[in-house]
Amino acid sequence: TDLGQFIAQLPKAELHIHIEGSLEPEMMLALAARNGVQLRYGSVAELRAAYRFTNLQDFLDLYYEGMSVLRQEQDFHDLAMAYLRRAASQNVRHVEIFFDPQGHTERGIAFKTVIDGLWRALKDAEREFGLTTGLIMCFLRHIDEASAERTLQQALPWRDRIIGVGLDSSEKGNPPSKFRRVFERARDLGFATVAHAGEEGPADYVREALDILAVRRIDHGNRALDDPELTARLAAEKVPLTVCPLSNLRLCGVSDMAQHPLKHMLRAGLMATVNSDDPAYFGGYVTENFLAVQQALGLTREDIVTLARNSFTAAFCDEAVKQRHL
Ligand code: HPA
Ligand code: ZN
Repeated sequence: TDLGQFIAQLPKAELHIHIEGSLEPEMMLALAARNGVQLRYGSVAELRAAYRFTNLQDFLDLYYEGMSVLRQEQDFHDLAMAYLRRAASQNVRHVEIFFDPQGHTERGIAFKTVIDGLWRALKDAEREFGLTTGLIMCFLRHIDEASAERTLQQALPWRDRIIGVGLDSSEKGNPPSKFRRVFERARDLGFATVAHAGEEGPADYVREALDILAVRRIDHGNRALDDPELTARLAAEKVPLTVCPLSNLRLCGVSDMAQHPLKHMLRAGLMATVNSDDPAYFGGYVTENFLAVQQALGLTREDIVTLARNSFTAAFCDEAVKQRHL
């Protein structure tokens, strides 16, 4: 359709993508073979058949198993390069990429291996595709704060390669308040801060992320709409929400894309953006996410423009890069 074409060619920024969640089944099997890693799945068809989730934890179990094939610097490079090539092909002009260092260091892969591979891909992609990039390191919230603090310490030799810190993994029972001190330390060190909140957890977790962690963006934030006062505050303070429609559908946060809250977010004046989260697992990159919500919710061309503009407004990139697209 016309609007589909319009979405595809529109310059976009992607602010919520877990690089480990861009590991397509084909690459997972190839890296498993290259590194001699035994997986429970022997074919692309078997893997895809396993991608039927009922909630976040269901997905995370497979996501952590999948990342076990990533062992060498080249693996991290190849993973990020494949994502960046796809992103550039969808006219994503700026991308801020999450990675989960503890998902690797906890199984004996050095922080240096991870960061060197990702960094080399980012620099190669900037040259080859002309996009701009940033890296955001996430703490796994199902693990304790002491481990997050050690991870922050481990990152310091590469301070200049990391723009921010985030918080992901199992939300329920792991409130933002659990990470108050490590986020304070990160802010003191000059990192931008974000946190997943209100994906499955309550509106209160969104409030905690703002008040206790002082984050500059909320990842997801869907459940904030349960609380009218919080919704009004998010609008007044122009707090960006990095919304991930296909993720919400696949993890059963919404029963049907027609029930997705994105349109309510826009009508409430929230600074919503559209992102892919874990594109290899949820069935689409950023353009497919835009198309899915546009069709299910009947978003207008103006809504699409607002969403794309919001993605640059909410980005942590240089003001000059921002102005080029706004
Ligand atoms: N939510 C929480 N943690 C995650 C996600 C997500 O959608 N993807 C990868 N880690
Ligand atoms: Zn996420």
